[in-house]
Formats: sequence, C-alpha cells, structure tokens
Amino acid sequence: MSLTDKFDRPLRDLRISVTDRCNFRCTYCMPAEIFGEGYKFLPKPQLLTFEEITRLTRIIVRLGAVKIRLTGGEPLVRQNVEELIKQLNTVDGVDDMAMTTNAHFLPKKVDALKEAGLKRLTISLDSLDEDVFQKMNGGRSSVAKVVAGIEAAENAGFSPLKINAVVQKGVNDHTIVDLAKFFKDRGHIVRFIEYMDVGNMNGWKLDEVLTAKEIVDMIDAKMPLEPLDENYYGEVAQRYRYKDGDGEIGLITSVTQPFCGACTRMRLSPEGQIFTCLFGTKGTDLRAPLRDGATDDEIEQIIRNTWGHRIDRYSEIRTDLTEEMREKRKKVEMYHIGG
Ligand code: GTP
Ligand code: 5AD
Ligand code: SF4
Ligand code: SF4
Repeated sequence: MSLTDKFDRPLRDLRISVTDRCNFRCTYCMPAEIFGEGYKFLPKPQLLTFEEITRLTRIIVRLGAVKIRLTGGEPLVRQNVEELIKQLNTVDGVDDMAMTTNAHFLPKKVDALKEAGLKRLTISLDSLDEDVFQKMNGGRSSVAKVVAGIEAAENAGFSPLKINAVVQKGVNDHTIVDLAKFFKDRGHIVRFIEYMDVGNMNGWKLDEVLTAKEIVDMIDAKMPLEPLDENYYGEVAQRYRYKDGDGEIGLITSVTQPFCGACTRMRLSPEGQIFTCLFGTKGTDLRAPLRDGATDDEIEQIIRNTWGHRIDRYSEIRTDLTEEMREKRKKVEMYHIGG
C-alpha cells in the first residue's frame, strides 16, 4: 500500500548521510570556531554499518523511495563508501543513485565510485575566486583542488555534473556570474542555493539572503535566461536555460519560494535516525530496533508511522516566525543529515 504523509505527500527520495565528519569547515555549515580539534564527532560503533544502511534502504524503497542520494558531512571521508554503493545497488527498485560531495577527494575516489555503480555526482563549489572560496569554505582546500576533482569526475564519465553554490549577500554574490559562465562553457549545471537557516550555528539573517530573483537578474543581464519546466514532480531546483541554447542553471529557493508542498524527501542520519525535514528537531531512531533484533516488518511499521504523521513544512512558515522563535527551535545540523 502506498505511503503518504498528512499532506498527501508520497515518500520518493531517501537521502543517506554516511558520516557527520567533513574535511571542510564552511562557515554556513560547520564553522571552524565550533568544530575545532576537540569537537566530538560520532564514534564508529554508533554509525550504521553498510549492511544496516542497506537493510533499511531495502525497507524504505519498499515504501516508495526510488531516488537515493549519499551525503554527509562529506561522504568521501567515510572509509570505503564505494562498498556501500555496491551494496545499495543490489536493492531492487532504485532508479537513481547520486552523491553530493565537496570534490576534494574525487581524484582518488571517482573511479571506484563509478565502478561501484554511482550514477550522478553533485559538487559543492561556492566561488572560483580563491579568497572568497577560502573565506566561505574554511581554508582547508583550494579552488584548484575542487576543480581537479571536477575534472576527475568528467574523465570518469560523470558529465553533466551539478554544481551547488550557496549564495550569501556581500560574501560571494559578486562572483556568481563568473561561476555561471565557467560551468556554462564546460557543460555542467550550476544550482544557486539561497542561503538557509539550517542547523543552529551559522547565525543566519534574512538580510544575508540574495534572492533567487536577484540571482537570475544578475546572470540574465550578462547571459540571457528563460525558465524551463520541471524535470519531475517535486524537483527542488527551478530550472532556467540560456537563450543561446547552450546550457542551464537551477535556483534553489527555499527561502523566497518554498517547495514544501511537494517535498518527498526522507533523511537517514549516520547513526540511524530518520528525519522528515531538513529543519527537523527530532529524529526517529531505527538503530536500536535494528540492533535489538526487530524484523523488517516491525521496522517498516516504525517508518510508516513516522511518515504517516508527517506535517513538516518549515520553509513555508520560516518567515512567519520571530527571530526569537527561530532561535529557540533546536534543529538538526546540516552536516549531520546532509543537504
Ligand atoms: P537532483 O536529484 O539532481 O534533482 O538534485 P536534488 O534536487 O535532490 O538536489 P540536491 O540534493 O543537490 O539539493 C540541492 C540543495 O538544495 C541541497 O544541498 C540543499 O541545500 C537544498 N535542499 C535539498 N532538499 C531540500 C529540502 O528538502 N528542503 C530545503 N529547504 N532545501 C533542500
Ligand atoms: N544554506 C544553503 N545551502 C547550504 N548547504 C550547506 N549549508 C547550507 C546553508 N546554510 C549546501 C552546501 C552543499 C549542500 C550539501 O548543502 O553548499 O552543496
Ligand atoms: Fe562540509 Fe558540505 Fe558542510 Fe561544507 S557544506 S562543511 S563541505 S558538509
Ligand atoms: Fe521538505 Fe522541510 Fe525542506 Fe520543506 S523545509 S522542503 S518540508 S525538508
């Protein structure tokens, strides 16, 4: 029987965070002053094993999920993540398997990912300007390293890629036209993401958001754009193509035009909790039942119950909340459940 939530939204996507660790320290996600040397990440025994993740995935796919995305933290810091991809590829009913990565380790890893059966890669890159990149991404890598990762992905046959760029007013907005042009020429799709109040650590302010409309206007002024229809129900990005017929971009408008109405995404955290919203405050633990010997049917029932009671629509209510209400809400961290 198909599963829908309280607003009739089906479960279609499963986003699996395989680790809470990352080799970057993006200011909007894991600010270095909080995530320093002494920060306690999850110890290994608390992480789901690949077998446990695959078992849960099989159950969640039975409930309707057809798309899988691996995230983190940074998924490539989880040892042998390619082995997980191989195991996930044994699950019947998965149409799509993608990964979101910062690309730093791709030159070493990309062939193994391809061989394991990963279909698509999305790479995070906020700016091609070295100073801006260092400032936003925490000074532990470089534009050249990310671009080398992108080239490795191209060579391994992952084109077209999607490139995710978070846009922060006054931080990287003066570099977005260059970013668009660079990837237009290389045949990849840049998706500009409105800066969001994910987690509790980034000190988000509404006036630091450059709106999708402003972003489109800036790019359109240099390289004219026109809107495109969505590829599939519930697509996160709004698509535009260049009027010269050469390439497209996407806008992720969680702040100014929320897309909760068609949100079909479930998120699995590294230690086995499911979250029904990126801005969720509380997950549902599946690891304890899993390790206590629950049957697949029993676990399925917990997931059905969780999704069946789902009423999340945070992005739609965000701007109705006062700053104080927003600050009180203890949300799950982005690095913990992925983007
Ligand atoms: P495709 O499968 O290629 O269409 O990608 P996707 O739409 O699943 O996009 P991706 O996972 O790369 O998401 C891009 C970014 O959009 C994420 O990194 C998040 O920042 C944001 N995002 C994704 N899903 C959600 C969501 O459910 N809510 C909100 N508010 N933002 C989201
Ligand atoms: N606002 C918007 N996007 C974010 N991401 C991480 N934190 C934020 C935020 N505060 C994006 C990253 C990456 C993806 C995993 O999520 O840039 O592309
Ligand atoms: Fe790491 Fe991605 Fe978070 Fe940046 S946004 S710190 S790359 S998990
Ligand atoms: Fe889905 Fe929550 Fe994002 Fe809305 S805010 S689109 S419900 S994850």
